[in-house]
Formats: sequence, C-alpha cells, structure tokens
Amino acid sequence: MTVSDVYHPPLFSIAPMMGWTDNHYRTLARLISKHAWLYTEMLAAETIVYQEENLDSFLAYSSEQHPIVLQIGGRDLENLAKATRLANTYAYDEINFNCGCPSPKVSGRGCFGARLMLDPKFVGEAMSVIAANTNASVTVKCRIGVDDHDSYQELCDFIYTVSSLSPTKHFIIHSRKALLSGLSPADNRRIPPLKYEYFFALLRDFPDLKFTINGGINSVVEADAALKSGAHGVMLGRAVYYNPWHILGHVDTVIYGSPSSGITRRQVLEQYQVYGESVLGKYGKGRPNLRDIVRPLINLFHAEPGNGQYKRRTDAALLHCTTLKSFLDEVLPAIPDFVLDSSVVKESTGREDLFADVQRLLPPPYERESQNHRKRGESLPTKPVTRDEE
Ligand SMILES: Cc1cc2nc3c(=O)[nH]c(=O)nc-3n(C[C@H](O)[C@H](O)[C@H](O)COP(=O)(O)O)c2cc1C
Repeated sequence: MTVSDVYHPPLFSIAPMMGWTDNHYRTLARLISKHAWLYTEMLAAETIVYQEENLDSFLAYSSEQHPIVLQIGGRDLENLAKATRLANTYAYDEINFNCGCPSPKVSGRGCFGARLMLDPKFVGEAMSVIAANTNASVTVKCRIGVDDHDSYQELCDFIYTVSSLSPTKHFIIHSRKALLSGLSPADNRRIPPLKYEYFFALLRDFPDLKFTINGGINSVVEADAALKSGAHGVMLGRAVYYNPWHILGHVDTVIYGSPSSGITRRQVLEQYQVYGESVLGKYGKGRPNLRDIVRPLINLFHAEPGNGQYKRRTDAALLHCTTLKSFLDEVLPAIPDFVLDSSVVKESTGREDLFADVQRLLPPPYERESQNHRKRGESLPTKPVTRDEE
C-alpha cells in the first residue's frame, strides 16, 4: 500500500495568506467552520531558525485550530531541516512547502517560492529533508508554471520529479503561472490567466497522487463543483477573507455534510472577544495590538445592512479604544439585531458550471521523457519512491 492510498487530503482549505491568515484570523475562521483546514502564513525557514528563542510568537496556536498546516519557505536545506525539527514540537497536521510565491523578496533576492519550480530536483531534495524531520505529512503548493516555462509538459516534469524524489504525494495547484519580473504579487494573482485544464489533466496523468485546486474559486458552490468534477481538495483564499461568514458558514454543511451549527455572529463575536482580550499584548507591549485583533472582523458583515457604517465606526474606534469589548460596544450598534442574531441563512450562490467545459480543453497526456529534458540532455528520475520503500 502506498501513502497515497491512505492519505486523504483536506476537502476544503483556507489558503495561506501573508499578513492575513495569522492566529487571529484563524481563530475567527475556526469559530465559523469546524472542518475547514487552516493554513498559517508562509514562514521562512530562516525566521524559525534565527528566532529560536521566540518560537511561540511564530508557531504557537490553540488546539481548536486543528486541522492546521504550517507553510514554510526556503532554499537552504540545513535551515529547512532545522526549522521543520523546531516546528515539529508544535504538532502541525501537515507541513507545506511554498513553491508559488512570486514576490521579489521571496522569488528574487530570497531565491525561493515560485522560482523553485525551475529546480524540481532541489524541491525533491527539500521535501525529503522536510519529511525526514517531521511526523506530519508533507505537501507542495505551486503554480502551473513560471515565466515562459509554462507548458503542461514542464508542469508534469516538476510534479513527476518531486514526487519521485521525495514522499510528496499531494500538490496544491494555484492554477495560473507566476511571472517573476514586472508584476506585483497582487497582479500575479490576477493577470496570468487561470488554466484549470492543467489541473484536471494532472488528475488524469498522475492517478497515484492527490491534487487540490486553487485560484479564482469564489464560493462554496464553486468549491463543491470542483470536488464533483474530480478534484481531491479545494483551497480558497481571497474570497474567504473578503466574505468569511457567507463562505465558511456553508463549508461544514455543503462540503462536509455536517448539520448546521446554528451559530450566530453575535455568538461568534462573544467567543472571539474572550480570545482577543486574552492575547492583547501577550508578546510584549502592543504585540499584538487591538488593530491586529480587529483586522479579521472587518469583513464579517460583508454585503449586510449597516456594513458601511460598521466599517466607518471601526476606523474611528481604532483611534482610541484599548480593549476589544470597548471596540465592539462602539461598532456593533451599526449592525441590525436580525443580522447579528441569525445563523447562516443566505443561499450559497456561485457558478455551478465553472468546470463544465474543462474536459474539452485538456492538454495532450504527459509524456515522461519530455522534449525539454531531452533537449537539455537531462533524464527524469526512473522510479517513484513510496513511503513504504523508505
Ligand atoms: C494577501 C495574500 C497573501 C498571500 N500569501 C501567501 C503565502 O504566504 N503563501 C502562499 O502559498 N500563497 C499566498 N498567497 C496566495 C494564496 O494562497 C492563493 O494561492 C491565491 O490567493 C489564489 O487563490 P484565490 O484566488 O482563492 O485567492 C497569498 C494571497 C494573498 C491575497
């Protein structure tokens, strides 16, 4: 039996987002969905290694956040090994390696993130090193290509090489390529076109591996459509951040088939307030501060009556409030009681047909000894390594 026979990737996960999916955001997300998998923001291996004295502020989380994935980035095998070892004591459910970040700080000067897609052998080695230093499963998050290395064959060479050289059996595919120069990270999430056909062709060409689809999926209806079309898992980023209640509120029922918890936003905020007050200033003066703790709440009333006023009151209250209680007392009167006291009711909407045409667009099947390798005179690894063989 191979690890992919027993390993079940998360059906639904919230994407790692730097500056957004911090402890506070994840606490709020878990209050709304019990089943969604949570990801940390990317942490560079060097940050973990050089802050050894201060690890809790980067790596600690409450046990309610399980299932939770730590995403790390890096290019130095020793630091990746040490960082994974240090993180192991925090019992993350998976460790994910970032091969998709196009930011100049990461893919330029740092030489990791999306740039690593150009060096699949290194990624294979890195994944082996990470796997050897953790008890958790290891996964890779990548793009479908980088710059003009954007053919389906090259993507397959990357997947084949990494999965052959390491125990990686699950890839999260942000279904657009990254352009390493000339585009900001935000434009790199918008301008290169989505090619879902590459994702679905991977399901066809690598039946022993697991794949999670990511990029441009905006609702639970669309996430469900991806699963029904064969994806092993779905990851949503921006949509969940901008509309946490109406998306996460449907995940447990629609994706996981659980009964509705019936929780209301007033109850969510009561629990979040207890959390917020307990962590204010926990790591020294102003770390975290009230603004950090309030940030995840900003979109909680997306598209609801009173939302505009709630946001204006938020800006004003942050200028003088010092506790989460005083903040909430000041801003919540903007929201009508029926909004605060209802559970998730709105029908989940979205494009059920988002992947309807995709099978028609699939690229030709992967040929293992691709033109690119033949041209470069390189050969691909000959035999995949399974966890049983290690
Ligand atoms: C503010 C922000 C920060 C991000 N930071 C990370 C990160 O740390 N690691 C990562 O792999 N992807 C990061 N991403 C990319 C997302 O994980 C995701 O792949 C991308 O947003 C596409 O998914 P979406 O269309 O559902 O948002 C970030 C995206 C945003 C918007």
